[in-house]
Amino acid sequence: MGTQGRKIVGTDVKDLVNLLNKAYSDEWLAYYQYWIGSKVVKGPNKEAVIAELTLHATEELAHATLLTTRIIQLGGTPVTKPQDWYKFTNCGYDAPDDPFIVKVLEQNIKGEQCAIKTYNMFLSILSQEVEHEEDLQALLEDVEIIMKNR
Ligand SMILES: [Fe+2]
Ligand SMILES: [Fe+2]
Repeated sequence: MGTQGRKIVGTDVKDLVNLLNKAYSDEWLAYYQYWIGSKVVKGPNKEAVIAELTLHATEELAHATLLTTRIIQLGGTPVTKPQDWYKFTNCGYDAPDDPFIVKVLEQNIKGEQCAIKTYNMFLSILSQEVEHEEDLQALLEDVEIIMKNR
């Protein structure tokens, strides 16, 4: 098995739950950053920005829902206290204390760039898992052929 494969198989459920809780904390913070940003933002083209920030808030909350479902399926406990989001977060939280539209957009762009980095890592795990399934199904087919021909 290659280095990457060993890394993936070596990821035990506890580590995985921890990664998922980190992403889960990011999603709640992203949700609130978008939501409160949509309320306070000021400047040109405000209406279009409010609509987009509001939509993004809803989508971040949906991401949190997906993650919590998976954490529970794995037998883990999702972060139960908002103050712990700060302990787990990868991407942090940028308060829109300056509500100028350019500033709010810049803060949220920074948040998305961080989220992309986080999920890139998940993607590499996912592609390994897809490969593992393929490998195992191919082996199973071989075993079935051998057994049929006995
Ligand atoms: Fe998200
Ligand atoms: Fe996002």
